[in-house]
Amino acid sequence: MNDYIPQKVKILEFYRESPDNFSIVIDFKTDHEPGQFIQVSLPGIGEAPISICSYSKDHMKLNVREIGSVTNSLGKLKEGDEIWVRGPYGKGYPMQELKGNNLLIIGGGCGVAPLKGIIDYVDQNREDYQNIDLFFGYRSVHDVLFRRETPEWKNKYNLMMSVDKAEEGDDLACFEMKTGYLMERMKELDINSENTVAFLCGPPIMINKIIGLLKEKGFKSEQIFLSAERLMQCALGMCGHCMIHGKYTCLDGPVFRWDELENFKND
Ligand SMILES: Cc1cc2nc3c(=O)[nH]c(=O)nc-3n(C[C@H](O)[C@H](O)[C@H](O)COP(=O)(O)OP(=O)(O)OC[C@H]3O[C@@H](n4cnc5c(N)ncnc54)[C@H](O)[C@@H]3O)c2cc1C
Ligand code: FES
Repeated sequence: MNDYIPQKVKILEFYRESPDNFSIVIDFKTDHEPGQFIQVSLPGIGEAPISICSYSKDHMKLNVREIGSVTNSLGKLKEGDEIWVRGPYGKGYPMQELKGNNLLIIGGGCGVAPLKGIIDYVDQNREDYQNIDLFFGYRSVHDVLFRRETPEWKNKYNLMMSVDKAEEGDDLACFEMKTGYLMERMKELDINSENTVAFLCGPPIMINKIIGLLKEKGFKSEQIFLSAERLMQCALGMCGHCMIHGKYTCLDGPVFRWDELENFKND
């Protein structure tokens, strides 16, 4: 199988997560690391990089936010329809090297999708890691993703979820959600940096603030990993569209250890 040639795969399951977000399970069997991505295309419409948000040899799950031509067209498909995929690409989270650590998994909005790949991986390799904390923030109750998986995450791990704001009648109780920015809620927590690594994915403003907070709590840059999103075309290190501070997001990332990027943060 050539990783650079798209192949046609069937959608096994399609369901909505929120008004502008859906998940699909596709019949694509391939080895991959949590944090890698694939290129998804529809003939005549285009191609988009989408993170793998599962960890399975039998199928692959993707979570998509509808923001443009490819993602909106994908959102109109149904079970049994076919899409084109190539990959997986990029560098994922170095889960093997991080064995024995506590894991702090911090996501905002759609940024929770690539992190779900880590959670699925940990589910299958639970004995390799210590405490698992999941901290997820969403704009509102209507934007909460992965409602199917959340009850299980709540049982197995330390889960904290917050929404930026809530309206009267919003059901915050279901996942013991609180209102307020995730960053503000994390400030109040006693987070120990010893033998702990943090994985971050979400809007850049949130990521920058949370990195600052983690530093205050004693984290070194080598203990922080983030998944970056950049405009992409080839995903093969050829077009240069995805460059971030001299690195290719498609080859060197999308997962970077913070010390790989921090010296460039004021560029
Ligand atoms: C490594 C990687 C992993 C990703 N994983 C996911 C995922 O799991 N789920 C998901 O929904 N999306 C993911 N994205 C973002 C997704 O690829 C874009 O939203 C998608 O390319 C939009 O394609 P489109 O044709 O629907 O939109 P277009 O019609 O191409 O664009 C719509 C608008 O969004 C802007 N835009 C497009 N791509 C990006 C981007 N990467 N960053 C910022 N603005 C952009 C365009 O400039 C335009 O203004 C990922 C991106 C990268 C690089
Ligand atoms: S997308 Fe072309 S170089 Fe990375």
